[in-house]
Amino acid sequence: MPDFRVASRRRYLVCEPRHFAVRYAINPWMHPDRPVDVALARRQWRTMVDTYRDHGHTVETVRPEPDLPDMVFAANAAVVVGGRVLGSLFLAPERRPESVPYETWFKAEGYEVHRPGSVCEGEGDLVPAGRWILAGTGFRTTREAHHEAQEFFGVPVIGLTLVDPYFYHLDTALFALDEENVAYYPEAFSPGSREVLARLYPDAVLATREDAMAFGLNSVSDGRHVFVSPGATALAARLADRGYVPVPVDLSEFHKAGGGIKCCTQEIRS
Ligand code: ARG
Repeated sequence: MPDFRVASRRRYLVCEPRHFAVRYAINPWMHPDRPVDVALARRQWRTMVDTYRDHGHTVETVRPEPDLPDMVFAANAAVVVGGRVLGSLFLAPERRPESVPYETWFKAEGYEVHRPGSVCEGEGDLVPAGRWILAGTGFRTTREAHHEAQEFFGVPVIGLTLVDPYFYHLDTALFALDEENVAYYPEAFSPGSREVLARLYPDAVLATREDAMAFGLNSVSDGRHVFVSPGATALAARLADRGYVPVPVDLSEFHKAGGGIKCCTQEIRS
């Protein structure tokens, strides 16, 4: 088995699930009538944070707001590349107010926040991948926001169309393994977008539908360790074959809101 993957230290922003709940339904995973075990969610989330720290990463927190149950999904609040912060404009009215506490956090840290003019859900749909940014559209983030992101960052933005409502954000269907490669679930994309991905990433790690339904593509990679849902067994085996080290982190309670590890983790790239 190859052992050449190198981890780099990352800076993550997260939000404690103190007020986590499923109170409305804005994706097919959400059923407000089904109970969420908030105590379990808090334990799972704590384990995720401890696991990041055990692997040498810096984890910072933004204070959770009582009436924003999805605020725990920190990835959606912004995308940060080269110290530039593109804030978010959420599609769902229920989530729109989340932009404020995150913007306040970034400003307190000395960042300026550029507010998008069109629906743009941060790292949920904008995935920095080395020399370019992969950008999802179809359910949330718009094509206009892709153009805005390209102008703002001065980095090529490659638009990809999502077609399966279960994989409504790009980060539920694809994640960056390192600067060179990605893992993804092909059927979540339109035929043309699948072709684009095959052209850009002939050596990509491909996931099965079971992996994707277990939130296996909602993973975080530091270049070596891949923090991945334990249900994504086929994907974990493929990652190990390619020299990555899968580190299982179980966020099953968050799946009930349509989120997983990556959704709960914003990466700050300075
Ligand atoms: N309930 C949230 C929503 O539908 C979940 C967000 C998950 N975040 C993510 N980055 N995919 O907006």
